Amino acid sequence: MDNAATVLVIHGPNLNMLGTREPEVYGSDTLEDIDRRLVEKGRKLRLAVETFHSNHEGAIVDRIQEAAAAGVAGVIINPAAYTHTSVAIRDALLLLSCPIVEVHLSNVYKREAFRHKSYVSDIAAAVMAGFGARGYELALEGLAGML
Ligand code: DQA
Repeated sequence: MDNAATVLVIHGPNLNMLGTREPEVYGSDTLEDIDRRLVEKGRKLRLAVETFHSNHEGAIVDRIQEAAAAGVAGVIINPAAYTHTSVAIRDALLLLSCPIVEVHLSNVYKREAFRHKSYVSDIAAAVMAGFGARGYELALEGLAGML
């Protein structure tokens, strides 16, 4: 898609296990299902959606730095467990000058207290939690409206 603004979607650790990982919490869609739908929805919104998954904090930091250098139009990130621990990912996100949307499949505020702390929420333009896999598409729609 020439000249389309790029949105980068980042998935953190263990999200590659969606479909089999605690389906009662995270649903039955796989990460491939989610990514495919995001790319399709991006096409309709005239956005080039790129997706990235890593189980490694440093790899996520590297990918965010690349996105900052490339000047992406927006970032959607589910940092998974790193949401609650990673100053490094927060610091990398601060390099971006585009809107950031934080996504969680589950409503983290209904869960254990350690999931209530996010190192990302206060630097995000918006937060989506509790809509399952559909939350990513809602986030993309919302982000498109901000661009
Ligand atoms: C999650 C919530 C996190 O607390 C958890 O560590 C995850 C997934 C979610 O999408 O609901 O891995 O980010």
